[in-house]
Amino acid sequence: MSRSAPPRSIRLRRSVLSVPAVNRRALEKTHKLDCDAIIFDLEDSVAVERKTEARDNLKAFFSGPALTAKERIIRVNALSSSFGNADLDLVLELEPDAILLPKVDEPQDIMAISDRLADADAPENLRIWAMIETPRGILNAAAIAEAGRTAGSRLDCFVVGLNDLRKETGVLPQPGRTYLVPWLMQVVLAVRAYGLDAIDSVFNDFKDMGSLESECSQGRAMGFDGKMLIHPNQIECANYCFGPNGEAITEAEAIIAAFADPASEGLNVVNLGGRMVERLHLVQAQGLVHKARLIAERKTTR
Ligand code: COA
Ligand code: MG
Repeated sequence: MSRSAPPRSIRLRRSVLSVPAVNRRALEKTHKLDCDAIIFDLEDSVAVERKTEARDNLKAFFSGPALTAKERIIRVNALSSSFGNADLDLVLELEPDAILLPKVDEPQDIMAISDRLADADAPENLRIWAMIETPRGILNAAAIAEAGRTAGSRLDCFVVGLNDLRKETGVLPQPGRTYLVPWLMQVVLAVRAYGLDAIDSVFNDFKDMGSLESECSQGRAMGFDGKMLIHPNQIECANYCFGPNGEAITEAEAIIAAFADPASEGLNVVNLGGRMVERLHLVQAQGLVHKARLIAERKTTR
């Protein structure tokens, strides 16, 4: 078996908005929002006594007009909880793009849900996303990501949950996330080793746009694909920070053109205005231009 990660299919996951399934008004709003993905939350944002109501809301919402050009992910309660089975039944009935498992601690958590989905003959394109938000989840991030390699595994994406992680570890919320960065990078490394995507944690102060922008830029610089969001006000910032901007697209197009030039045939390195560009940059540039095209297409289908 090849030791390198399989090629990743490029998806837009810049802005991943969480919507409490108990909030019907917020659910209806999602049709008009410019985010790449929606997490319909049955877990922490829904009070214990309202779990059934939240499931009923999702049923009604999914039977209404389809959401266009957005991934649909349902975050379930832990399968070991008293809500797990009913949540899983709902996922099987509604067939979203992915199921998001909270507090994934070890590879067995992924294998258990993979087996349940296979036993239920769930469609192959129903993927698994995993919240990495516990000390064991961080410590086991690489082993959990590797579970994505196992035949039949549908693992596709990690979402970091810092609210839980701070609570479990005692790390204080601080600007710059100094003491959390090593753990965040461990998650990024794990997903890159095994060909998954990684979504950075929510930022709670949804009125503080300046700090959100710093955190999105930091997440992008760390290699995350996007950010989990809690409020519509945060979408534009995440789309901007995680999307390729105009300058990057122009540069990527220049790299593609440089290698397409017949004079570059047989060359692995070329001189682009006094800077060395390698063929590996060409692959990056093609990915970036592809992402820009997906964004443009999404705009026209909304
Ligand atoms: N998705 C869709 N719409 C949302 C939304 C969300 N996550 N959060 C807020 N809105 C809507 C509100 O319904 C409101 O709509 P309206 O003007 O038609 O009434 C509008 O955006 C403005 O909301 P605002 O008044 O600023 O905030 P709020 O008090 O209604 O909600 C929160 C604030 C934090 C309770 C809410 O944003 C929320 O529940 N976020 C998600 C929480 C979550 O999923 N947590 C789990 C993951 S960490
Ligand atoms: Mg959590």
